[in-house]
Amino acid sequence: MQKIGVVGATGYTGFELLRLLSIHDSVELVIATSEKYSGKNVCEVFPSLEKYSSLKFDKFIVENCKDLDLVFCCLPHKVSMNIVPSLLDQGNRVVDFSADYRLKDQMIYQSWYEIEHTSPQLIEKAVYGMPELYRKEIQESQLVANPGCYPTGAILGLVPLAKEGLINPSSIVIDSKSGVSGAGRKESLQFQFSEIEQGFKAYSIANHRHTPEIEQELSNAFGNDVKITFTPHLIPVTRGIFSTIYFEASKKVELPLINETLSEFYAEESFVRIFENQENLDISQVIGTNFVDIKVNFDKRTNRYIMVTVIDNLVKGASGAAVQNMNVMLKISETKGLPNAGFWI
Ligand SMILES: NC(=O)c1ccc[n+]([C@@H]2O[C@H](COP(=O)([O-])OP(=O)(O)OC[C@H]3O[C@@H](n4cnc5c(N)ncnc54)[C@H](OP(=O)(O)O)[C@@H]3O)[C@@H](O)[C@H]2O)c1
Repeated sequence: MQKIGVVGATGYTGFELLRLLSIHDSVELVIATSEKYSGKNVCEVFPSLEKYSSLKFDKFIVENCKDLDLVFCCLPHKVSMNIVPSLLDQGNRVVDFSADYRLKDQMIYQSWYEIEHTSPQLIEKAVYGMPELYRKEIQESQLVANPGCYPTGAILGLVPLAKEGLINPSSIVIDSKSGVSGAGRKESLQFQFSEIEQGFKAYSIANHRHTPEIEQELSNAFGNDVKITFTPHLIPVTRGIFSTIYFEASKKVELPLINETLSEFYAEESFVRIFENQENLDISQVIGTNFVDIKVNFDKRTNRYIMVTVIDNLVKGASGAAVQNMNVMLKISETKGLPNAGFWI
């Protein structure tokens, strides 16, 4: 059994990670940290996690993590970069959930996150944690930057087509709708039930921080600098992200070639499903699973493609992807601990 620690284990992604680790039979969770709940039994805080009835939340002390085979950091951005360097210095391997090591250009990070990066020397060392694109690099990496939730559905949908030069890069518009857990568990008036239950709104229009992350990975795939239009929306559900992605083909391309390109690219992947026949995708079909489901439609009146992707933001968009990365890093079967049966449908 390989020994695992989770730093920031009481947030939404932290809890989801504990849930997934509790059904993983090749690793043992030995440290779960929390500032707020330190000293409390995990089961007392999260009664559904019966497996951890003898584990207590501890405050984070870097030396306590020394013998762990892998540490997950489920902390907010800016907080994470104060902790990750000390773990790497003492030899730990880390999967970091925050945005602190995802962007390869320090200046882009600093301008979008409005803070100076305190460990820029680690940016180059970090591997973007998407096994479907960087499996080999993840295997050897000491630091994996787990992708953001919105970027996951957008990047996995578009990259195979971008790599084949099938898309006009300046035509991409990504319209995403997210459940409220995407904002984390912290107390905040704007995310209270009564504030969001009847609503549906766009936010961070033209300046959401996931924009440069999507652009970075699409630019790599196109081999050119790409700018996209990305608009996130908040919908009154707890989990799930539904992205509607509009693009034009770069040349005369028929829908079957688009589908074939996606199916071939993901032929060996366990967590990406391409739908050609099902009429419409629904976030409910992926909730609780590590799947990203993709369906492409063609509007022949406008010559535009309309791609839909759905993920569970807390699983493939965060903790499921992190477990998948851990499995790759520790050379465990990649699907272990990742149920493909969802909660609802
Ligand atoms: N939610 C999502 O859908 C999602 C998806 C992808 C990535 N992420 C990323 O994953 C990370 C965790 O997200 P989350 O949604 O789990 O957040 P969260 O629910 O707000 O939890 C963050 C946890 O970090 C701990 N923490 C320690 N120091 C903190 C500090 N100075 N300020 C705030 N919290 C502190 C807190 O636990 P204690 O107080 O108990 O220590 C808190 O429960 C973030 O970087 C986020 O951007 C989230």
